[in-house]
Amino acid sequence: MALWGGRFSQESSALFKLFNDSLPVDYRLIEEDIVGSIAWAGAITQVGILTQTECDALQQALNDLLLEVKDQPELILASGAEDIHSFVEQSLIAKVGDLGKKLHTGRSRNDQVATDLKLWCKKEGEQLLQLLGGLKAALLALTERELDAVMPGYTHLQRAQPVAFGHWCLAYVEMFERDISRLEDALKRADTCPLGTGALAGTAYPMDRHALAQSLGFSAPTLNSLDTVSDRDHVIELCSDASISMMHLSRMAEDLIFFNSGEAGFIELDDQVTSGSSLMPQKKNPDALELIRGKTGRVYGSLVGILTTMKALPLAYNKDMQEDKEGLFDVMDSWAICLEMAALVLSGLKVNRENTLRAAQQGYANSTELADYLVAKGMPFREAHHVVGEVVVAAIADKKPIEDFALEQLQTFAKVIGSDVYQCLTIDSCLAKREALGGTALPQVKSALAVKLQQK
Ligand code: ARG
Repeated sequence: MALWGGRFSQESSALFKLFNDSLPVDYRLIEEDIVGSIAWAGAITQVGILTQTECDALQQALNDLLLEVKDQPELILASGAEDIHSFVEQSLIAKVGDLGKKLHTGRSRNDQVATDLKLWCKKEGEQLLQLLGGLKAALLALTERELDAVMPGYTHLQRAQPVAFGHWCLAYVEMFERDISRLEDALKRADTCPLGTGALAGTAYPMDRHALAQSLGFSAPTLNSLDTVSDRDHVIELCSDASISMMHLSRMAEDLIFFNSGEAGFIELDDQVTSGSSLMPQKKNPDALELIRGKTGRVYGSLVGILTTMKALPLAYNKDMQEDKEGLFDVMDSWAICLEMAALVLSGLKVNRENTLRAAQQGYANSTELADYLVAKGMPFREAHHVVGEVVVAAIADKKPIEDFALEQLQTFAKVIGSDVYQCLTIDSCLAKREALGGTALPQVKSALAVKLQQK
């Protein structure tokens, strides 16, 4: 039976009930709803609605209910209740009789659902912070293992300049650190308690909302009842933070899919995280990485979904907002499993150093070095750039790297070139030059890693 039957003389249609009920989605808020209800029982006791004995009985029954159904969602779902709030209230009444009917005094499902969802966001957010930390740790471990493997760095997917593999790893550490700080920031803003703002206008009982907020682990109560019951910024922020983080995961996945391709052959992925083809026996496909890349799409979809749902909603609560949870739950589940999966992929990843080095040596990735060499000999950079372009054209025509030209041949392009040019064209020299802060010179990468390991 619905909680609100008195005003109605007819039952809901079956279709309406199917359409309107949110239990199949919001059953996941069982713990938050019960924890919130326990706090609410305490708050209405303070204002004289319940005696202490009644409060104790209600809180006991709520705790019992949690133990009974927490790990058995099928019991909740089988109840046919409209939503998780109705389920908890109905179950409570079934346990303690008429006393259970007092719990909803001064409360609305509007401040209740807002409270449940914020509690859930805080809990999930903390879990995601752990998982982001785990991925960062996996990247740092990979950096330690493969720091000085040399590979080509790319722009426009064209070999550009050699970089250390550890430098590539630490690039993603930077991204995931930003994700961590963004999530921490969102969680700070989600840390205000909606309970005690009623349906929209505030509760009619003179309760201490500061104490109530504190009892639920929030740092403060919210300050405006109209805003409180219609605010889903925390949902949007989590979906947004997840989208940005999934974009990072997807870029990392894409890099690794390319590194793993037969054409590049830079890395070997562990059997544990790859799969075969049902037809082609030679295949070892990077499915884990492709799914990370793929799931990014649905996370973006949920962000756009909730933004669009909230757009133009008049104050205060509207039922449209019930659509917030399905997307949010999916976003947080997808983000979590992708973070875990990415960490597992990285932990078993091996770099094929001969292939990365060979690729770094090909493709004229030392051209900038030659230009810098000419600059050191007094040639203006723009002119040096032009000269090296001509050298590269000749090298391509001869199908050989720049350093295979004899000194006399190189001097036909620029007289200032001396025999010291060969040292400067080596991969080691290319890397070693990039020693300013943030560059790929090995001492830089090592000290960047040391800083990250210290912070852990
Ligand atoms: N199931 C609803 C939701 O998720 C709970 C709030 C219902 N409030 C109401 N006035 N109908 O948003």
